[in-house]
Amino acid sequence: MSKALRHFLDLNELPTKELRNMLAASVAMKAKLKAHDKPAKPLEGKTLAMIFEKPSTRTRVSFDVGMRQLGGEAIMLTGAEMQLGRGETIADTARVLSRYVDAIMIRILSHDALLELAAHATVPVINGLTRRSHPCQVMADLMTFEEHRGPIEGRTIAWSGDDNNVLASWAHAAERFKFTLNIATPPQLAPNKAMKDWIKATHAPVVLGNDPEQAVRDADCVVTDTWVSMGDKDGEHRHNLLRPYQVNAQLMSLAKPDALFMHCLPAHRGEEVTDEVIDGPQSVVFDEAENRLHAQKGILAWCFDAVA
Ligand code: CP
Ligand code: NVA
Repeated sequence: MSKALRHFLDLNELPTKELRNMLAASVAMKAKLKAHDKPAKPLEGKTLAMIFEKPSTRTRVSFDVGMRQLGGEAIMLTGAEMQLGRGETIADTARVLSRYVDAIMIRILSHDALLELAAHATVPVINGLTRRSHPCQVMADLMTFEEHRGPIEGRTIAWSGDDNNVLASWAHAAERFKFTLNIATPPQLAPNKAMKDWIKATHAPVVLGNDPEQAVRDADCVVTDTWVSMGDKDGEHRHNLLRPYQVNAQLMSLAKPDALFMHCLPAHRGEEVTDEVIDGPQSVVFDEAENRLHAQKGILAWCFDAVA
């Protein structure tokens, strides 16, 4: 029997132990890099195809640099340049790319398209963001939290903003890593029924609400994200609903005095977060961005079942 493919699609689909191993590998590789130790090249001869249907700075560069640091190579493809953009199916794209490359990372709005790619690929597939989730980001965020504050288990993370892909991966992480996630969204932009059903079914420690002050009270970390995600159309309406959810100094002052501030970036300063907060001493947003590189390497090593 062939070995199961190591797809990295969503945090709630992977055992906590495997996720922990990836994080440990990420931390170890980061320490080695910082110490200028001779890097191991466990992915020598391996190629990653990166498909981007939507723009990216962090995901694109961190996967590319991560592959190089691990001894492999990455090929950048945009949906528009591929036959995918002219109607070739996701399934056929998966079958063809699997004959050339050793893994595929994809950023595509349709989560179903990601699942279809994974179903037809014969190499590991990595979710580089869909409308539904952004697991690579939250792996970097978990790494960043623990780097600054130690184990995340039992801690409280607060989210002030809309329901989106990053929030879904935070919810998955709360269930896997046993921390409380307090969510404040406008009622009109709250998690959907599928997410609510999942929270209920898994008893995930996720608390839904609409009051940002209540959500952040005594939190160890406050997280937000853009008010208009890729694929959202009703920008002005969303801005009007989300204005009370801005993370500013007043809101941060309700969290623990040493609470961290996180944002996956890109940020819209003056909208979801003020300059004072994002540039302030509690902000770790650039550590998060840096840790995308190290987290990606942990994920890649796992996907290839390589000892990092
Ligand atoms: N945070 C994040 O995924 O950034 P990019 O869109 O730049 O990849
Ligand atoms: N929620 C944002 C994340 C960007 C990295 C989006 O989907 O646009």
